[in-house]
Amino acid sequence: MSVDLSHLLAQYRPHALLPDDERIQWIQRDRWIHYSRAEHVLDRLTALLNCPPRNRMPCLLIFGSTGMGKTQAVQKFVRDHRSSFDETAGRTTLPVVTIQMPPAPHERDLYEEIMVAMGGVLVMGLGITTLRHRTRVLARQLGVRMIIIDEIHSILPGTFREQRIILNAIRFPLYASARTMRNRLS
Ligand SMILES: Nc1ncnc2c1ncn2[C@@H]1O[C@H](COP(=O)(O)OP(=O)(O)OP(=O)(O)O)[C@@H](O)[C@H]1O
Ligand SMILES: [Mg+2]
Repeated sequence: MSVDLSHLLAQYRPHALLPDDERIQWIQRDRWIHYSRAEHVLDRLTALLNCPPRNRMPCLLIFGSTGMGKTQAVQKFVRDHRSSFDETAGRTTLPVVTIQMPPAPHERDLYEEIMVAMGGVLVMGLGITTLRHRTRVLARQLGVRMIIIDEIHSILPGTFREQRIILNAIRFPLYASARTMRNRLS
């Protein structure tokens, strides 16, 4: 018996014929849906990424209610600016690094998150100065130009001093020409 799928776009008809479990899995996958606000956010992020190196790099705070699509927009931006490998130079370039703010505002946790996001090797027991230095060196080697911190509000449970240290760490010129993105929830 043939099924009438004329109500579906041609490219999706094969999916409708998959076995139930595969079809349901396919339906439940994450997908990016364009809408004007998200487009605007992506344009702003792209403009920031293309901003030439300056003494004071601009930054952007994205805020919105939970479930508004902040993380989705950031992930889409990261997918559009993936790492690339230059075969001639034998060099990997990673323009955008995205991390989630650790649950508590500790400088060490922040650098470790950034290290992991850059694919660096974490050595246990390193002093904070060495860790910071290694993070900067790797970021420079990879040509990091932007850091996106999701869930930046996680600094709020820290003490005033801890919050100041983290804010200074973010402001610190960690990467030669990097700009810092702060993605905050309201
Ligand atoms: N552009 C989009 N395309 C498709 N689905 C989306 C999009 N934006 C949001 N969604 C849907 O909404 C859900 C919530 O989005 P997201 O996790 O980005 O919200 P958020 O603003 O980061 O929330 P929170 O503040 O709680 O972290 C996603 O899991 C996804 O299902
Ligand atoms: Mg989110």
